Formats: sequence, C-alpha cells, structure tokens
Amino acid sequence: MRFEPARSLSGEVRAPADKSISHRAALLGAMASEPVRIERYLHAADTTSTLQAVQALGALVEVRGDRVVIRGTGLREAREPERAIDVGNAGTLLRLLPGWLAAQEGRSFTLDGDSSIRARPVDRIAAPLREMGAEVQAREGRFPPLQVRGGRLRAIDYELGVASAQVKSCVLLAALAADGATTVTEPARSRDHTERMLLKAGVTIAREGHRLRVLNADELLLDSVSVPGDPSSAAFMVAAGVLVPGSRLLIADVGVNWTRTGFLRIVRRMQGIVLGDLEEETEELVEHEPVSDLDVAHGALEATVVEAPEVPLAIDELPLVALLGCFAEGETVVRGAQELRLKETDRISGVVEGLRALGADIEATADGFAVRGNGGLRGGTIDARGDHRMAMMGAVAGLASSEGVEVLGMDAAAVSYPGFVEDLAGLAS
Ligand code: S3P
Repeated sequence: MRFEPARSLSGEVRAPADKSISHRAALLGAMASEPVRIERYLHAADTTSTLQAVQALGALVEVRGDRVVIRGTGLREAREPERAIDVGNAGTLLRLLPGWLAAQEGRSFTLDGDSSIRARPVDRIAAPLREMGAEVQAREGRFPPLQVRGGRLRAIDYELGVASAQVKSCVLLAALAADGATTVTEPARSRDHTERMLLKAGVTIAREGHRLRVLNADELLLDSVSVPGDPSSAAFMVAAGVLVPGSRLLIADVGVNWTRTGFLRIVRRMQGIVLGDLEEETEELVEHEPVSDLDVAHGALEATVVEAPEVPLAIDELPLVALLGCFAEGETVVRGAQELRLKETDRISGVVEGLRALGADIEATADGFAVRGNGGLRGGTIDARGDHRMAMMGAVAGLASSEGVEVLGMDAAAVSYPGFVEDLAGLAS
C-alpha cells in the first residue's frame, strides 16, 4: 500500500480502544464470579484471540457491538480445553494467561500461536510460575508452545529482571490464588493497568516505590470496565500531526495513564505541540484510567535522548521516536531499549533498516539507536515484517516524506488498529 506525501492533516479522530486494557478486562472477566460488562472492547485480531481463549476455558462471551459481556468461571475453575489455546499474534495473552492457568490445580493447558509468537520468549514467566508451584514447560526451555499444569501455589517475593508489564501482570494474576501475600519488584515503572483493575475488583494490592504487594483473593468483583482510547494507537496520529506541515488534529478519548504517556512527554521535550490533560505521576495506586483529548499541531522539532527508566513508559512508541528524530534538529538517541529486539519483530533492526531505506541517517546500537535529523525523509519502500507497529510507522513516514512510501504488509495493522488506514485517509482529505 502506498502513502503519498500529505499536504496537511486536519480534523478529529477517535483513537481505537486500548489493546492492553481490553486483554486485561477479558481475562479478569473470565476470572470473576459474576458477569462483567466491558464497554468499548477493542475488536482487533489480538483481542479477539483473548475472547476465544477465555471461551475455550469455559467463560461465556456475549458480543454486542462495542459492548462485551463475560460470564466467567471464577478464579480456580477454568475448564481444561481439548486443544491447544491459540493466542494468534498476541504476546500479552501469551504472557498474562498462564498466570491464571497456573492456579488451576491438576489441569493442563497448552498455548501456541503464529510464527512470530513462536519466537517470543516465555522463560521470563515460566521461572516465577515454577517458583510458585506450577509445572511449566516450553520448547527449548524458552519458546512456545508453552505447557502449564496448575498447582497449589505459594506466595513469593519476585524481583523482575526486566521492566515488563506482561511478566509483572502474570505474577500478579497467579498471586490471587497463592497462599499469602506476594510481592513483585520491578526495576523501573511499567504500565500498571493490571494493578488498577485488580484494585477496582476488590483485591488488596498496594504499591510502594517499585514494589507491589498483593494478597490472595476468594473472588474478583468487577461489575463493569470502560476501555479508554489506546495511547499507543493514538501515537501514530500524534506523529503524523506533528510531522506533516500545516497540520492541526484533535484526537479524542485517549487514555492518559502516566505509565502510558512517556511518548507524549518525549514529543513535548522535542518541542512538538501536543496539548492535553495528562495524568501526573502518582505515588499511590489508583483504580481509575484517566482520558483526555489531544490537540496536535505541526512544528519544528529538536533532538532528545531517551534513557532506560523512560523506555517502559514508551516501549511501543519508540519506533515513532526514531521517525520524529529523522525530522528533528540534532541527534536523537534511545538507550536501554534492548527489549525492542524481543517484540513482534526485532524492532531495533526493523526500524533502523526500514528508515535508512527511506533516507534516514540512523544506526543501531546494542540497546537502541541513534538518528541524526537530516531535514526529513525522501521515501521508498518499507517492509513491515508482519509487525503492526512497523506497518503504521511506515504509513506515517509516507505522509511526511517528500516522495511517498510503499508499505509491504500493511494488513498487519489489524492486530491493534483495524481502521488505521481509513482514519489516516480521513484526516488527509
Ligand atoms: C504490554 C506490555 C509491553 C508492550 C506490549 C503490551 C502489556 O510488553 O510492549 O505491547 O499489555 O502488558 P512488555 O511488558 O513485555 O514490555
């Protein structure tokens, strides 16, 4: 699919529903004892995999447009399915679901997915779940298919080796069925949607610095969840608005939880114009997921440096930081982001090779990249390599380029943002 240089972007767009929160709402809905109503569930490939997975485990799922009602099985009553659970391309489902399955005493489950999922490491969740008392096996000890046999779980004190919200969430879900208080310590703050939703569901959970403490629970009492717009999807529109000359956009209903707005703070530091009421960093855990409209305008950018503590707060948007860096004055550097090599694709080499082919002065480092702004991008062809965020970055690059960009594999966007091309076209007209 070709994306020609845009004259300017204007108008209003509503960000699609949040993928991370939709996954969690479906999983906690399946773990709850009473029906849970989810308003504005994301209907995209990844989150459909989650609905199918919880159905295979015995939950009843009723879809009425954007509203999904889940009648769960309760914390300890997931059914053992006859076949392997297919997680498709969804890394979040692959890492979170085993936390619940680990607590299903005497029942066995297999998780498998597409070829990209088969290259995503699961040893990071296998280690804590084994320590808690589940049996976990993976191909070569590290990759899916993943087998989990539930057990009677012990509470543990777990220190995460990487700041990963997926691993943290997996341990928190298993902790609900453990025999006491579990603590999880992360090296840096990462997205906290699981913690907020557990608090809302009546679980005793608290945070002190980078350490979480969660008590076991008899049941989850969730009632309803309202899913905000996805800041990671909105980020593509923000980048397009900032980069295409003459643009002025309004992006409505974006989730602005502090642990998800690292990219917006980076854009502001680069002197990009993004107005909106972002949540401040809070010491205490809150259950609310705040939303705001974002008002974006084109303007000149300055280079910036992103260091390790900021990485988990902008992890899925770092390809866009590279793209902005191509248009900024000076050298933009991202460090401490080696986790990018373990995403749907190796996003360090994908972004560096992809943008270089479009005219960028960019180089990879072991844990990130450095890009020197050279007045923008010429254009050319970029291969999404089956990665939704690479595909959408290529499209935005095309609108901001001087000669246009052809994206190979644009259909990958359906994983998180099925209406992406239409939304972009609506703003460009
Ligand atoms: C996610 C956490 C992040 C992120 C992924 C979604 C989540 O992964 O990259 O797209 O919903 O918890 P890690 O926790 O592995 O960094």
